[in-house]
Amino acid sequence: MRFVLAFIVGLLSGHAVADDALVRLAMPDAMRQIGFDKHLLPRFKFKTRIAVTAVAPDAPADMVLAVEADGGTRVFSDDAGAVWRVAATGEARAEEVRAFIDWLRSTPGKAAIETFAPDGVALFTTEVRSQSVAAAETVDGDTALGSRLALVHCGRCHVVDARNRMGGIGSTPSFAALRARARWSDLFLTFWTANPHPSFTQVQGYTEPFAADRPVHIAPVLMTMEELEAITAFVATIEPKDLGRQVEAN
Ligand code: HEC
Repeated sequence: MRFVLAFIVGLLSGHAVADDALVRLAMPDAMRQIGFDKHLLPRFKFKTRIAVTAVAPDAPADMVLAVEADGGTRVFSDDAGAVWRVAATGEARAEEVRAFIDWLRSTPGKAAIETFAPDGVALFTTEVRSQSVAAAETVDGDTALGSRLALVHCGRCHVVDARNRMGGIGSTPSFAALRARARWSDLFLTFWTANPHPSFTQVQGYTEPFAADRPVHIAPVLMTMEELEAITAFVATIEPKDLGRQVEAN
């Protein structure tokens, strides 16, 4: 029943995200291997609806991320102190390239760069690290819709609120505990990139179809970005679990 409901909700509310604005960013293979593109590009797409695809350094591209990018804009430094720049490779897609660079230099873009920590260690810093990148972010969305969808889609595993207080699965963090995390809204808006979700979650226009050779064994979560915004706006209304007080008591 839950499966059918989640599926129908997904079908009824879906509408396609335009995908013709594909922009190509060349970046080193090593960076793609550790998943920097998968961390960064969905966050940019979320803010701007512009889809950027990472390609190999020698592939045709609209812009390049490199240490030696001539005329490029500096966007971050790595742990060895090298300065990375983004540069347009031609005249094409100039507007999208400009939007990408502007975003990388904005507060949410810097936060995205600095939160990339594949093994729990941040690899990149933006030059204005000392400025607060955790500035409060307002989340727009339909909280009533988000409240319903959170229970349907997420309440199977997470304790959402009093409505399913006994319903969560074992060690899965409650929404109140997640709400207490730094940059919680970023975690929610990109939850589909964090395990275990990719194996059963489809966000229309953002995720690849499930791999045919790896069937999904649990009821999938099918949703649109508007629905995820609604859930995140709803989570903003949840009282954060006071983890600090427990720590202080020790
Ligand atoms: C099938 C079970 C399941 C479903 C359904 C599910 N989650 Fe999760 N979620 C988990 C588990 C397990 C974790 C903890 C993973 C860990 O800490 O390694 C988690 C962690 C998270 C996190 C923290 C991610 C991070 O980077 O630390 C967020 C945010 C989250 N879930 C949001 C959601 C939202 C929003 C939904 C519904 C749209 C949802 N989850 C549906 C099992 C689920």
